[in-house]
This record gives sequence, C-alpha cells and structure tokens, in this order.
Amino acid sequence: MSEYSSEWGKRSWNVFPGGSLGEYNLPAELSIALSRGEGPRVWDAEGRQYIDYTMGWGSVLLGHAHPAVCAAVQAQAAKGSNFSYVSKLTIELAEELVRAVPCAEKVRFCASGTEATMYAVRFARAFRKRDKIVKFEGAYHGANEFGSISLFPKTLVDFPTANPTSAGVTRSTCNEVLIAPYNDIETTGRIIAEHADEIAGVIVEPLHRCTVPLPGFLEGLREITRKAGIVLIYDECVTGFRLSYGGAQKYYGVTPDLTALGKALGGGYPVGAIVGRADILDLCAESRLGVEEYVWFASTLGGNPVTCAASLATLAELRRPGTYERLFEMGELLRSGFRKILDELEITAQVLGDGPLCALAFTGEKVVDYRSSFRADSEKGRAFVLGLFRNGIFLNPMSTKLYISVAHGEPEIAAIHSAGRKVLREIFGK
Ligand SMILES: Cc1ncc(COP(=O)(O)O)c(C=O)c1O
Repeated sequence: MSEYSSEWGKRSWNVFPGGSLGEYNLPAELSIALSRGEGPRVWDAEGRQYIDYTMGWGSVLLGHAHPAVCAAVQAQAAKGSNFSYVSKLTIELAEELVRAVPCAEKVRFCASGTEATMYAVRFARAFRKRDKIVKFEGAYHGANEFGSISLFPKTLVDFPTANPTSAGVTRSTCNEVLIAPYNDIETTGRIIAEHADEIAGVIVEPLHRCTVPLPGFLEGLREITRKAGIVLIYDECVTGFRLSYGGAQKYYGVTPDLTALGKALGGGYPVGAIVGRADILDLCAESRLGVEEYVWFASTLGGNPVTCAASLATLAELRRPGTYERLFEMGELLRSGFRKILDELEITAQVLGDGPLCALAFTGEKVVDYRSSFRADSEKGRAFVLGLFRNGIFLNPMSTKLYISVAHGEPEIAAIHSAGRKVLREIFGK
C-alpha cells in the first residue's frame, strides 16, 4: 500500500484537488470515503466506524438517516423532486420560518448558505443604495465573493482593511468590505461612524464560530446600525435552529433586519433561506423588474419540495418538548468534560462554544475575537483534531468546531473524551 491508508482515499486524491470536496484538509494517509451514516455514526468504504463530530458541517442536526426525514423525503421524491415553483410544502415551510424566527416577515429560498448570505448583502445594498459592508475578522459567510474576506489572515493589518484570503477575489471587492473586530463595539462603532454614508449593512455571525458575544455586543451593534440606518444581517447558517428553535436572535434576544439560514434547516438536504423585514425582501418582487432598487433573485433548486419535506420533518422533530434541553445538556457535558481533562493533565487551553457547539483553542488567553484565537497554538490544534480522527472521531480538521446532533448521547460524549485524553497525553507528553 502507498502512503494512502485506503484504496478509496487514493482514488479520491486522483480526482479531487486535495482529495476533498473543499475545506477539508485530511492528510493522504487518513483520507477515506464514507459509505453510510446512522444517528451519530458514520462508516467508511472499508467498514470502519467513526463517531461523527461534524455531522455534515452541522446540517444533520437530528442525526444521520433520521427515520422521519427519510420517510418524508421518500414520499415526496415519488411525487416529483423539483418544480422551481412554489409547492404546498414550500409555503408550509416559509410559514413555519415566519412563526419561528423573530425577524422573519417574508422569506426567499435558495440552495446553500453561500447564496443566502450573498443575497442578504445584495438586499442590504439595494435597500440602502450603498455598496460597503462591514464584516468581522475571522468570520466565514460562505464561498461567495465577500464571505471569506479576512477569514484567516496570516498578517494582521489595521482595521478596517480587508484581506482577500482567497485568490480570485478582486481588489475592488475587498475595497467594498470593511473589517471590524468581533466583540469590540467601540472600534466597530468608530468604523461605522467614519464610513456611515457609504455602508449598506453589517453582517455578523451572532455566535462568531464558537466565540460567544460579550454582554452588550449584539445590543450595541443593533443600536448603532439602527441609528445609522444600516441593515443588520445575522448569518445564522450555523446558529439557526441550533441555539434555539428561533436561532441565535431568539437565544440572545437581539433581532436583526435580515437573516441568512442554511445547514440544519434542510435536515441534510440542500437549503438556504433569506428571511427578514418585508420592506427589504419585497425589493425582489418581480413586479419591480426595471425599477432601480429591484433585486434579482433566482434559484433553480431553492424551495424544492424534497428539501422542504426534509426540513418540515426536521423542524417537527426539533419542536418536540425537551429537544433543546437535551442538546444543550450534551453540549455542556462535552465542554465541561474537556475542561476537566485539561485541568487534570495541567494543559492550558480554552474550551469555547455555546449550546451544542464546542471547540478547543490552545492558549492561556480568553478568546474573544479572531486575534485572540490567532495567538493560540495552531500546530497543537491540528495535532489534536488529527489525533481524534486517528482514534475513531470523524471531524473536519480545518475547523476546530465540533458539532453534535440530537442523536449524540452520553456514550458518544464519553468516547470523544476518552480519545481526547489519550491524544492530549501524546501531544503534551503527559
Ligand atoms: C456561518 C456560515 N455561513 C455560511 C456558510 C456557507 O454555507 P454553505 O456551505 O451551505 O454554502 C457556512 C458554512 O460552513 C457557515 O459556517
């Protein structure tokens, strides 16, 4: 055998750049292909079993192949998979979003989070008739033109200068994005004040990756944007239906103007949604075609009935009493267990996250933004996630974020703690 541990890993590297579908940098010797998932587990093509801590990057919040989702998808697939037009299920899902998400008065569907954030920014620009957008350093809003700007800058430049992160993103795109430090309302407020008449909107992940908002940060952002007449956009692709049924805006109690949704909403099927104020979303009503502020909106697969069936089945499960209490209990067990292990082994690290999300950062400094996480030991971070992978934990090594699902329970949490303790001992020579 070559440097590959599996024939499928080799075949994957033959056809995919980096052997991956994107943003997934497993070394060749760990590359595999997955063949099956059930609940909190996945199996590779060689039959090896893993406990999944990425869960389709958080898109499968109920667990893999949930029976209610499978039944709903199978039933709809037999009746037609896509009409590129409103179906009964599409309306029911949109009505449920309006009920659930505080800012949602109107809805448009697309097929990914990347599109949802792209459209949210486009709506803000059209509504304010301005071009600039404020984005927080280290935030990911999808693979669209602005979504990865200043995502992982290796050189830290003065705010609000943007760094493209990806080749192919034009200088002029960077010039339209002002970068601010998350959790620093003073600096953010100053940037907004200095550019107030050029800014269309501010986009923020209310829980920035796994970094929690400091008291007053989201409230301050809401206040400043309201006063300046700037559109506040929440990227809730991760937090939507995860931090609560109404998302981070319900959980943290601060309502934006627009919200981008994705991931968990689709129950593992392709989804994106833009929800928010009717006066902003109505700009894409086709009767406005030709009017200056008309927003072009089109999506071949957005709102397709199979995704909507998966989504409605997922949301019905999530509405069951006790679901979020259990998710949060398991998230807390995951984080507190890691804190205990770190204490016991006398290793300095921060355990980050909220609700069912968790990440470790090997630093003694409290992580409040990109710069404090940038100072963490990233080599140790990578050794840790790859070590977990070698010990039967399936995860995304390019992100330190661990996702759990409703299907994760005490045995799965105990398994990652046991693997984690072993790996930390190896890395730190304890
Ligand atoms: C916060 C956030 N926004 C947007 C996206 C993009 O979503 P998608 O991969 O569905 O395009 C992601 C994906 O990881 C994300 O984490």
